[in-house]
Amino acid sequence: MIKRPIIIDTDPGVDDTIAIMLAKANPVLDIKAITPVMGNVGYGDTSQNAIRLADYLDIDCRVAKGAFQPLFIESKTAGDIHGEGGLAGYTLSKSERQFDDYAWDVIKQEAEKAGGELEIVTLGPLTNIAITLLRYPEIKPLIKRIVCMAGAGYMGNMNAYAEFNVWVDPDACDVVFNSRIPVVMCGLDGNDFCGLTIDELKEYMGKETKISPLLDHIFSFFIKRRIAGGPEDDIQVINDAITMAYLIDEKIGKTEKYRVDVETKGTLCPGWTIVDRFGKSGKEPNVDVLVWSDKAMFKDMLFKMLDYFK
Ligand code: BDR
Ligand code: CA
Repeated sequence: MIKRPIIIDTDPGVDDTIAIMLAKANPVLDIKAITPVMGNVGYGDTSQNAIRLADYLDIDCRVAKGAFQPLFIESKTAGDIHGEGGLAGYTLSKSERQFDDYAWDVIKQEAEKAGGELEIVTLGPLTNIAITLLRYPEIKPLIKRIVCMAGAGYMGNMNAYAEFNVWVDPDACDVVFNSRIPVVMCGLDGNDFCGLTIDELKEYMGKETKISPLLDHIFSFFIKRRIAGGPEDDIQVINDAITMAYLIDEKIGKTEKYRVDVETKGTLCPGWTIVDRFGKSGKEPNVDVLVWSDKAMFKDMLFKMLDYFK
């Protein structure tokens, strides 16, 4: 089987963790590197979580040193959403691995090695990728595509329209969306179709697999949050895992190509990804926007992931 070389750029993070589990469980992917970035929690925690997860999941890949702050603005985190340390208080064993080169150097090296086949999946703020493209613009033709958990067409989780990963570093998202590299935006609204109820989350818990201690811990955390949210907010959308599912098999989603510009300076909705559905800007479409995702297929992928780790 020809494996697809990928890099996972991530800010783990509870839902990043489920996404990385999915990636490891899929035989078609060859994870060349994990490139951590600040985001859900500070860089100290995201980088440690990344390197420890690589051990926990037995992923034989490079783990790079990434960005600890956005390009131009101050860092903001979402610790309340991800719990203590970013993994809802779960402590993974310390890693003996050494961090590799900087993320932008690792991405460049892997892009060159893969000769045009490298795919990047981003699960956090796009800072590492933007730095790569600004520093090494010549490697753009070597990146096959970038699949991003980023943005939203019409629903925000940080203000009326901005999604967290873009809101943290809108300038970085702007660089990536304007790079002319094929970009898929798996945003909040496209992912929303795959939201899981509390009962559905429970279908994956209490199993005897290698990952179940951590997965059960994270899913219990999701359930507590859903109960606290009340009936208006009782569906868990595991955004990063749905994005990874799209990278694995794009039959899980439907995309439409639009011009997407990022509100980098706005005072009302900074971080808004403005999807020009009606072509009003007159600019070339630049992003494949996820507009629908298949919940049955997503649920099945999660079951297959548990089977893999049995
Ligand atoms: C995104 O923000 C983070 O909190 C999650 O890990 C996900 O990548 C959702 O807006
Ligand atoms: Ca994330």
